[in-house]
Amino acid sequence: MTNGQEQSAHYDVHWQEEEYYYPPPQFIGQANCSDTSIFDRFSLDNFPECFKEFADLLDWDQYWHTTLDTSDAPCWKWFVGGKLNASYNCVDRHLEKYKNKTAIHFVPELEEEPVVHMTFQELYRRVNETAAVLRDFCGLKAGDRVTLYLPMTPELPITMLACARLGVIHCQVFAGFSGKACGDRVWDSESEVLITMDAYYRSGKLLDHKANSDQAVEAAEKAGQKVNKVLVWRRYPGKYSSPTDMVDGRDYFLDDLIKEKRSQIVEPVSMPAEDILFLMYTSGSTGRPKGCQHSIGGYLSYVTWMSKYVQDIHPEDVYWCMADIGWITGHSFIVYGPLALAASTVIYEGVPTYPDPGRCWRIAEELDVNIFHTSPTAIRALRKVGGDEPAKYNYRFKHMTTVGEPIEPEVWRWYYNVVGKGKAVVVDTWWQTETGGFLCSTLPAVSAMKPGSAGPGLPGIHPVILDDEGHEIQPGEGKAGNLCIRNPWPGAFQTIWKDKERYINSYYGKYSKDRNSKDWRDWIYMAGDAAVMSKDGYVRILGRIDDVINVSGHRLGTKEIESAALTTEEVAEAAVVAMPDEIKGSVPELYVSLKPGYEPSDELAKKVSDNVADVLGKIAKPSNVYIVPDMPKTRSGKIMRRVLLSISSGKDVGDVSTLANPQIVEEIRKQVQS
Ligand code: WT7
Repeated sequence: MTNGQEQSAHYDVHWQEEEYYYPPPQFIGQANCSDTSIFDRFSLDNFPECFKEFADLLDWDQYWHTTLDTSDAPCWKWFVGGKLNASYNCVDRHLEKYKNKTAIHFVPELEEEPVVHMTFQELYRRVNETAAVLRDFCGLKAGDRVTLYLPMTPELPITMLACARLGVIHCQVFAGFSGKACGDRVWDSESEVLITMDAYYRSGKLLDHKANSDQAVEAAEKAGQKVNKVLVWRRYPGKYSSPTDMVDGRDYFLDDLIKEKRSQIVEPVSMPAEDILFLMYTSGSTGRPKGCQHSIGGYLSYVTWMSKYVQDIHPEDVYWCMADIGWITGHSFIVYGPLALAASTVIYEGVPTYPDPGRCWRIAEELDVNIFHTSPTAIRALRKVGGDEPAKYNYRFKHMTTVGEPIEPEVWRWYYNVVGKGKAVVVDTWWQTETGGFLCSTLPAVSAMKPGSAGPGLPGIHPVILDDEGHEIQPGEGKAGNLCIRNPWPGAFQTIWKDKERYINSYYGKYSKDRNSKDWRDWIYMAGDAAVMSKDGYVRILGRIDDVINVSGHRLGTKEIESAALTTEEVAEAAVVAMPDEIKGSVPELYVSLKPGYEPSDELAKKVSDNVADVLGKIAKPSNVYIVPDMPKTRSGKIMRRVLLSISSGKDVGDVSTLANPQIVEEIRKQVQS
């Protein structure tokens, strides 16, 4: 919470409607879905049977009998009675047609290292060998949990798919997280095996990841979870690249162990659809991390459908999602969705702007990437360091995605015009770790795009905006409220691992009237985002409900103010915090960073401040505008407004060591507090 205020969905909305952009005819002509009647098929009247279409994208060992079982509401069970294996669906079933086709293009960060093109046959072989080690050497079996702490190399999806082959539940922790954070997750998931890598590249440096892994084991043991085996992939097989010692009897090189399993085949274990595929931890605003528990059948069918119809992936496409596989975006839209469709998926090891701002576009040109997927924070960074770079490279995107936070319309237009060269469709996909896959977005060949708006609910998803009393706010009313979903969907997480109470309270507590109801209509899913729905049904996110700024009783969304700041030509990024104020309750203070070539000045700060007042009204005028060299950011790229608020209010910033750029905090503090 930015300002110790109550969580409430009520906002005052100032935003203007943006103009529509239309998908190019060439895109529509080749799209997997250009059927405008699709929404009728997925109307609430056809719920839940309409989701059969999702399940039918997969190969089942045993077909299911019940589409949706609500007997343990709101813990939904999808495709009950069915059996399948996720690894089989992502690898084996493609061999007949595509064994020679690239499954994974691995791009090492160092440009002098060659790109690895791994075929489906090779992926098949390596997944099987790895599964053989996990089963025979570690004794792992269906239902066991294993923590993965792997960087962005092919060993990560290989290990995930090896787990899935055995029915073992993988819990991948983002490699950029501290050893302590990883240890907490090892403990929560009760993993006895940790799989890691010795080292990997970031910004040209080979990082000692084994050292972090040792800290993880230590932290887990302190908390009470013993780790019996640490399996270490080597970044360069056969050559250990970490200065940290291996521990005798505990640590083993996985690239050695698989040699003993050469060409061994492990039969995929036929798993019940509603068993667990993986846990993905997400940080709640308070308290311990939440292990979002995702199912095999529901999740896999959901991300496969979304990859096919929202990402428009065909087997012949080259698809690059720049997220890290350590986040849900990477699980769903680098690994499971694309591979289930036999796409060629790109895995890039390092930093998008290393060694220079053109790197991304060189990768796109070299591999002939035609579908590109990234976040507003990456788009802003690429625009900031190299706004003219894309024009220098000869790639051609048909489709681009933005995900992770609201995108300012100014930034959207740069993405569309400069990165997409005015020729690609853009989808702004709104969803969460909890939801498994997309919830709101335009369907790329069916609906028009609108900068800054995610779009309507996807087929089968029925969003509604509720006020604090649970009344529906009508589309076009111009009022914001709590964004909710009326119905369950197959990709939704099943519960929070070991904490059903917290699951029910966090996502269903506010609006459920009868906790004993077995009727899905009584369980409206509350996402925790504030949003406004325009007449056309498009949803525009204003931010998390706990990120609201209340100025003299006017409730402003952080993203509205930041978008207004970005209408200033010189501004690259903006972050707003709510400073407590005796009279007004709170006032916005604004932090901005500039595009290269512009110098900070009092005039410029005033210009930004005036622009915000022009766009949103005087009420939103920031009390201060600080022009800073960069924003403090998490490793996933989210701006840490909390840290900026501490600086603004002269408080201790707390532990910032897990940030992507901790040194910037001290720099900003000196500037603001001097
Ligand atoms: C929160 C979820 C979605 C996977 C990656 C992040 C925000 C996400 C959008 C979007 C506006 C967005 C929401 C959401 N968010 N996508 N397209 N437009 N806001 O997953 O870490 O679980 O974060 O990210 O606030 O609740 P996550």
